[in-house]
Amino acid sequence: MLNKKTVEDIQPKSKRVLVRCDFNVPLKEGVITDENRLVAALPTIKKLIEGNAKVILCSHLGKPKGEAKPELSLAPVAKRLSELLEKEVVFAADDTVVGENAKKAVEAMNDGDVVLLENTRYRKEETKNGEAFSKELASLAELFVNDAFGTAHRAHCSNVGVTEFVDEAVVGYLMEKEINFLGNAVNNPERPFVAILGGAKVSDKINVINNLLEKVDTIIIGGGMAYTFLKAQGLEVGSSLLEAEKLDYAAEMIKKAEEKGVNFLLPVDHVIGKEFKNDTESQVVTAEAGIPESWSGFDIGPKSMELYANAVKDAKTVVWNGPMGVFEFENFAHGTIAVAKALAETDATTIIGGGDSAAAVNILGFGDKMTHISTGGGASLEFLEGKELPGVAAANDK
Ligand code: 3PG
Repeated sequence: MLNKKTVEDIQPKSKRVLVRCDFNVPLKEGVITDENRLVAALPTIKKLIEGNAKVILCSHLGKPKGEAKPELSLAPVAKRLSELLEKEVVFAADDTVVGENAKKAVEAMNDGDVVLLENTRYRKEETKNGEAFSKELASLAELFVNDAFGTAHRAHCSNVGVTEFVDEAVVGYLMEKEINFLGNAVNNPERPFVAILGGAKVSDKINVINNLLEKVDTIIIGGGMAYTFLKAQGLEVGSSLLEAEKLDYAAEMIKKAEEKGVNFLLPVDHVIGKEFKNDTESQVVTAEAGIPESWSGFDIGPKSMELYANAVKDAKTVVWNGPMGVFEFENFAHGTIAVAKALAETDATTIIGGGDSAAAVNILGFGDKMTHISTGGGASLEFLEGKELPGVAAANDK
């Protein structure tokens, strides 16, 4: 369990409370296309409003790299949050984040009011975690709540530096929930414990695979990274994604799985295509027969789908991170859909790492069938790697 003070451990009444959220949401022409991160932040914000705090929200959005970029303004987030909270969220339009406009907005607050600051990454100091900008942010408030799980793997002014200059720094409900779900799954799983890892590259998942091999009963591999493992076993992968410099590592992981008695499942068949596009010529081949020259594997095949679904059926805990194929192309999304379906149907505790797999589960309409869908992509991966997250570490201990 998380050993950090939480929003339950502070007395927020009439206090100015700075809350770091992860409002880094996808936007299309100023419209938020996935508001899960906003919805997930509501319990902490509501708790503070009900506690009569002056609630000052902050977040980054995208990578403006120290410049005010109107297309990365948090203004649309303030608008949508107002609707979700059914309460005005005053947007402190301020290109310097903590300039005159922000200060004025904060000074005008009454108990229970909510202000949202501008994108913290409009300031180049933000990602350097230096003292000056951390102090500027801290000067707005007495208390600090970090609820930005999605950013917890970063050590920036608004989630780490700021904690040194406030009276109290605690975590919010979302952070607590994420750490408890992921932590329980990884460190205290009900068995059989199955990890499903997909995505394009082995190099993105090296430490996750290595760490999870110490903990799981079964690892299922899919997505582009499967081909490096198959090649390491001497199978032909044609023009599929291949990380030649990771072949030794792949072989080492297969050996480690054997030594640890971990069931290491690789695709037994593939849907292959000629060109990287949805309507390319395609066919199914077995992994043993291999992928012919100039063809690439774009999805797991029907036998692999069955194999993976069966492994999930008997599991008690499943963690999934990364799609099984090029799921943005309809014709190569079947493997990812099959895995999402298998997870939706199992009685196991199902934890979806953020990023692409979370998006896939939600787009496919299985969101409410999962035990927990993480709001953190990089953060949940680093957690699964066994790393301490700086954003969590910086909060006060219980
Ligand atoms: C994310 O979307 O993973 C977080 O908001 C962190 O964003 P970043 O990768 O730009 O730091």
